[in-house]
Formats: sequence, structure tokens, C-alpha cells
Amino acid sequence: MRFFTAAAAASVVSVAIAAPTSVASPTATDVTDVYAAQATAKTRSPTSCVKGAAFDRYVSIWFENTDFDMAAADPNFKFFAEKGITLANNFGLTHPSEPNYMAAVGGDYFGLDGDPFTQVPQNVSSVVDLLEDKGISWGLYQEDMPYSGFQGFQWVNQQNGANDYVRKHNPEILYNSVAAKPERLEVIKNTTMFFKDLQEDKLPQWMFITPNMTSDGHDTSVTTAGIWLRSFLEPLLNNTNFMQNTLVLITFDENETYTIQNRVFSVLLGDAVPKKLIGTTDTNFYNHYSELATVEANWDLHTLGRYDVGANVFANVASQVGEPVRNWTESRFYNLSYPGIFNAAGEWAPQPVPNTNLRINGRTVLPSIQATWGHLQNETIYHGALEVPDGYHLPVYP
Ligand SMILES: *[C@@H]1O[C@H](CO)[C@@H](O)[C@H](O)[C@H]1NC(C)=O
Ligand SMILES: *[C@@H]1O[C@H](CO)[C@@H](O)[C@H](O)[C@H]1NC(C)=O
Ligand SMILES: *[C@@H]1O[C@H](CO)[C@@H](O)[C@H](O)[C@H]1NC(C)=O
Ligand SMILES: *[C@@H]1O[C@H](CO)[C@@H](O)[C@H](O)[C@H]1NC(C)=O
Ligand SMILES: *[C@@H]1O[C@H](CO)[C@@H](O)[C@H](O)[C@H]1NC(C)=O
Ligand SMILES: *[C@@H]1O[C@H](CO)[C@@H](O)[C@H](O)[C@H]1NC(C)=O
Ligand SMILES: *[C@@H]1O[C@H](CO)[C@@H](O)[C@H](O)[C@H]1NC(C)=O
Ligand SMILES: *[C@@H]1O[C@H](CO)[C@@H](O)[C@H](O)[C@H]1NC(C)=O
Repeated sequence: MRFFTAAAAASVVSVAIAAPTSVASPTATDVTDVYAAQATAKTRSPTSCVKGAAFDRYVSIWFENTDFDMAAADPNFKFFAEKGITLANNFGLTHPSEPNYMAAVGGDYFGLDGDPFTQVPQNVSSVVDLLEDKGISWGLYQEDMPYSGFQGFQWVNQQNGANDYVRKHNPEILYNSVAAKPERLEVIKNTTMFFKDLQEDKLPQWMFITPNMTSDGHDTSVTTAGIWLRSFLEPLLNNTNFMQNTLVLITFDENETYTIQNRVFSVLLGDAVPKKLIGTTDTNFYNHYSELATVEANWDLHTLGRYDVGANVFANVASQVGEPVRNWTESRFYNLSYPGIFNAAGEWAPQPVPNTNLRINGRTVLPSIQATWGHLQNETIYHGALEVPDGYHLPVYP
């Protein structure tokens, strides 16, 4: 039973990996502290209604460590595949979990090659900066997170000690640009709050949902994950507080077997999917950066100037925004992290500078990112690497 108290986690100022045990010891006092913080934690549910080109709400639900074929064969995942578009060539970025979650919202995983207590430096932006810039509400719903904004490493079931919530599957809490702002912590909530927000018609326009370690298949199997998804998502399919021109992405973080390509099972569904695409398969190449690229293209957002720029936008959305889906034959395995500030295997490399000169379909890098990093363009140069996404060779669009 290892977890942090809010106070202990908040006092961590190191920018790189802090070993969990150096922050707080797994004592009973920690439970008391968590319960004390739970009683006073603030929660907010801001809403907005910004029209997008292809959808007005985006929801991603992430599952764990399952090879493509296993998930595709599960009756409950199949049930949802039949209601949407199956992505046949969507790839995880590396192993294990945490770098995949980190990259899906920030456009890079900075060499992370494990699941430790990690804090991304405060001068790194993530998708929520892009969303807030356009007034688009966002929120995360993490099943069994003990309270909104909890920054601890994990939280176990207090009855049986089983894993419940883990920080490594909570992408935005990893970013100090989020954790340093109380108003942002207040929208990182648990699924109890999801159901409250749903009932009160206060769901945000962008949301990221992480089931607990039992429900997401991590400590169990794809069967358990499928049963959870069926019970969670099926009732939402005709709930008008949820379905408001909504695009739902069901995905896995990574393929389980490290020696095969890191292809993950993913489905796009919801009332934003055109009827004629229901039950179809999309064979274009995508990876977790496509989630960023798609949201950015849909709402005409600025970009992060990292691997979000140039990643393929999901075809059903790309066709609505006039963005080409590039042909891409991928032979790499994506089973190894490239060097970076978080690399524990001795492969250190400097914190890369976003390329503030990038343009995609007329869209530019977020002005605040330009202000922080624009003068360093002589150093932008994402280092050479062992296994890199194609977006690594950043394309420049006129
Ligand atoms: C970003 O933050 C890192 C870590 O604190 C620091 O080393 C780096 O100099 C900062 N860079 C800029 C441009 O702010
Ligand atoms: C969920 O978060 C709320 C708000 O912080 C908290 O009051 C509640 O106890 C949490 N629920 C669970 C099941 O942990
Ligand atoms: C995880 O979630 C499921 C269902 O949502 C719940 O039954 C279970 O108690 C939770 N925690 C653990 C440790 O399984
Ligand atoms: C949603 O659909 C289910 C079955 O398809 C049906 O039983 C239920 O009444 C529907 N609910 C609403 C609110 O339409
Ligand atoms: C990645 O996959 C290749 C091909 O199967 C294999 O040779 C290599 O050992 C794998 N690397 C890791 C770190 O698992
Ligand atoms: C993992 O993905 C590869 C494709 O990249 C696929 O061929 C393989 O079937 C998947 N693994 C399993 C065991 O299903
Ligand atoms: C991708 O390939 C197909 C078939 O070869 C072609 O029709 C299409 O124009 C190509 N798309 C791009 C963006 O190059
Ligand atoms: C890049 O430019 C900055 C500011 O002009 C300068 O301090 C730095 O030494 C340069 N770095 C390289 C790698 O040339």
C-alpha cells in the first residue's frame, strides 16, 4: 500500500523523477491525510458550448495492456465496434503505460521509459492550454481517485488493499503546468463526479476517462474491461446529457506483447460519427498523437509544436476540416522509449524545445508557447532516437 498524501506530493519540486518512497512513507497517517483532504477538496464543473467542425464534445476512455486481437474478439468491445469505426492501425508510442498517457495530452513523453512518480516541467504545455485558449471546457474522470485534484502516486481500495487509482494513468496530473493551478486541479475528478455532472448536465466538452485498475483490464483481463465498458458506456449512448454531437474514442494504451508491433484496438463512436461510417474499419495509420491532432483540427486550436503537429487526424474528422490523411506504412515496433529527461535507462537527452515555426493547415503554435520557447529555435531539434514516430521528423507546412 503505497500512496502519497496531497501535502507531501505538493511539496515535491524536483522536475525529474522523484522516487515515491522519498516523498512519503506508506503509513496509516497518509490515509488520514487523504481523508482530511477529501473533506475539503474543491471541485468545479465548468461547461461551454464551442462548435467544432466534426464534433462538439470529445471523450476518450482508456484501457490497459491488451493486444489488438484479444480486444477485437471480446464480445463487449465488439458490441461497440459495431456501433462505430474500428481503427485497424492505431499505435501505442512505447512501453509501458505512463509515457503513452503523458504523450497523448502533451505531444511527447520526454524519454520516459517506466511508470514512476513523474512531474513534467511547468514550462511544458498540454492540450488543456490549447482548449482554454478557445474557451473549451475540459475535465478528467478517474475512477476511484479519492478526491478532485489528488496528486498522490496511487490509492488502494481501503477494504481489500486492491489497486484502485494510479497517477500513471492520469495524464494531466503529470504536468506541473496543470498541478500548479488550483482551478485546473478542481476539474480532475473521479467517476462519482462524472455521474453527478452527467445528471446535472454539466459535462465538459473535452474529457478523458480512466477506469480503475480492475475496470481497465490492468489487474484483470480484457473480459473484465469489456464488462465495465458495457455497463458504463451503453447507457450513455442515448443519454442526451452525454450525446451532444459527441465523438467517443475507446482505446488501449499499449499492446501487451513487447516483441510485436504496438498496435492497439480502438473504436470511434458516438452521435458525431456519420451514419454511413457505422460498422466500418479505418486502416489509416494513427498513434496517440492523432488524438491531439484531431481535437486541434476540430476546434481550430493552436498547436503544441511537438509531435501533435503532423500526426494524422482521424479520417472522419480530417474530411470535415480539409486536412489530408497521409499514407503511412509503419514497420517500427514502438516498444522502446527514445532518450530524454525522464529516461531511466541511462539514455538522457535535453528537454526538447517546441518548434514554434510549425504551421499545419494555417494553424500556429500557441502564443504562450512561442513566448516561452520562440527565442530558442536554434536548439529545437528533437534529438536523434532509437524508435521514433514519424512526427518526430517534424514536417513544415507552408
Ligand atoms: C524549462 O524548464 C526546465 C526545467 O525547469 C529548465 O531547465 C529550462 O531551462 C526551462 N526552459 C525554458 C525555455 O523556460
Ligand atoms: C470523489 O471525489 C469527490 C470530490 O472530491 C469526493 O467527495 C468523493 O469522496 C470521491 N469519491 C470516491 C468514491 O472516492
Ligand atoms: C473498481 O471499479 C469497480 C467497478 O466500477 C468496482 O466494483 C471496484 O470495487 C473498484 N475497485 C477495485 C479495487 O476493484
Ligand atoms: C436507451 O436505449 C435503451 C435500449 O436501447 C432503452 O431501453 C432506453 O429506454 C433508452 N433510453 C432513453 C432515455 O431513450
Ligand atoms: C521490440 O521488438 C523487437 C522485434 O520483435 C525485439 O527484437 C526487441 O527485443 C523488442 N524490444 C523490447 C525492448 O522489447
Ligand atoms: C499486436 O499488434 C500487432 C500488429 O501491430 C498484431 O499483429 C498483433 O496481433 C497484436 N498482438 C496480438 C497478440 O494480438
Ligand atoms: C494515399 O494513397 C491512396 C491510394 O494509393 C491515394 O488515392 C491517396 O491520394 C493517397 N493520399 C495521400 C494524402 O497521399
Ligand atoms: C541558441 O540561442 C541562444 C540565445 O540566442 C544561445 O544562448 C544559445 O547558446 C544557442 N544555442 C545553440 C545550441 O546554438
